[in-house]
Amino acid sequence: MPPTRPAAPEGFRTALGAFAATLGSAVGLGNIWKFPYLAGIHGGAAFVLVYLAAVALVGIPVLAAELAVGRRLRRNAVAAYAAAVPGYRAWGAIGLAGVAAAFLVMGFYTDVAGWVFAYVFKTLGAAARGTSLPPGTFAALAGGTWEPVTWQAGVLVLTGGILAAGVAKGIERVARVLLPVLFILLLVCDLRSLTLPGAGAGVAFLFKPDPARLTPHVLLGALGLAFFKLSLGMGAMTTYGAYLPDSARIVPTALRVALADTAVSLLAGLALFPAVFALQGTPDGGPGLLFETVPRIFARMPLGGWFTALFFVLAAVATIGAMVSLMEVPVAWLSARGRPGRGASAALVAGLMLLLGVPATLSRAAGLDAFRILGRTCFDLYDAASSQVLLPVGGLAIAILAGWALPRAGFLAELAKGERPGAWTGPALRGLLRWLAPGLILLAGFGLL
Ligand code: TRP
Repeated sequence: MPPTRPAAPEGFRTALGAFAATLGSAVGLGNIWKFPYLAGIHGGAAFVLVYLAAVALVGIPVLAAELAVGRRLRRNAVAAYAAAVPGYRAWGAIGLAGVAAAFLVMGFYTDVAGWVFAYVFKTLGAAARGTSLPPGTFAALAGGTWEPVTWQAGVLVLTGGILAAGVAKGIERVARVLLPVLFILLLVCDLRSLTLPGAGAGVAFLFKPDPARLTPHVLLGALGLAFFKLSLGMGAMTTYGAYLPDSARIVPTALRVALADTAVSLLAGLALFPAVFALQGTPDGGPGLLFETVPRIFARMPLGGWFTALFFVLAAVATIGAMVSLMEVPVAWLSARGRPGRGASAALVAGLMLLLGVPATLSRAAGLDAFRILGRTCFDLYDAASSQVLLPVGGLAIAILAGWALPRAGFLAELAKGERPGAWTGPALRGLLRWLAPGLILLAGFGLL
């Protein structure tokens, strides 16, 4: 890696703030919407088990690699990958693919986040009136036109506003405030769900694996979720790595982020499945689990209306840090030379993301839902192209870059910052990146073919 660095970008102020921002990127709809619905359709504990293995063996090493590349080069993801291996600017393709992935993920993420914010108001209103959401609420919202598009635009304005405020004053500060709120709300919902009579069946669903459900299909789903969950494979964590203070130790930071993020997923599962089983629902509602099954099931328990609203407040809180990190990848790249500034870059990127996101949002509207690309709706195409192609391929490229192409001494020096001399974690991590992580990604990829 080159010895000279350009002026470092503004960064996070403290190691704790850096941890909060990184965890804030990881935590999001992945925990509260995707993880429960995927676990629900893939048989619960079997999926959870494979997911845990994917996080430990692939997620943590790639997360540490992204943070290390970012901090080593102290610049936006596109510039960092282009400069990571002297003489091989082609690695910059990882960063460019990452910018593309940021737009694709945001294209459908802001649609779902918009539903979540709409549900905050709908469920609060219903709880205040003492009624439950009328049946067909979700179909009307998701199949609508102006309503979901307005919410989508709203979450993009919110995200852009946070980015315009800056790295420390926007991203870091928002994460430090929102994460504790999220944990408290989650624990309240867990207490409610776990104390229902018959809650044990939901706990068993999540933790007692049925070996018959361990299929290659589950492996690919779990690996894709691990990438999506930990915000890997597209330079989001590389970008945050550039803001990481030298006092933050990379391997323990990656470990703690992965552990805390997995805890949030399991706590979300424990808020949902015990209630679903106790109240005679089914866990396999797919993407509609959060928006259809949950309000219907929660309505059957005491104070259910308020708990439904609380759950959507916590889901809304969770989406913010994730969207911030997705939008920061192109914003950091655009504003790297100071012109356009962060504010103008954020506005431009948010506008482009809306343009790309509206077709995904309208893909459920009557009359427009017949429009397919490669046999998929726009929404499904963005989701599949990012989760099943761009993120795993990006993650594979990052693992190979870190394990094989990066100068060994420089990479290990970055991992060793703040560690005792002779610490074994850096070399062990590099070993995982050389062999196991790429091997498992390829294995899962062949399962797809
Ligand atoms: N990790 C977030 C979630 O679980 C989503 C996310 C944020 C993401 N940044 C990302 C996904 C970068 C892929 C790449 O909701």
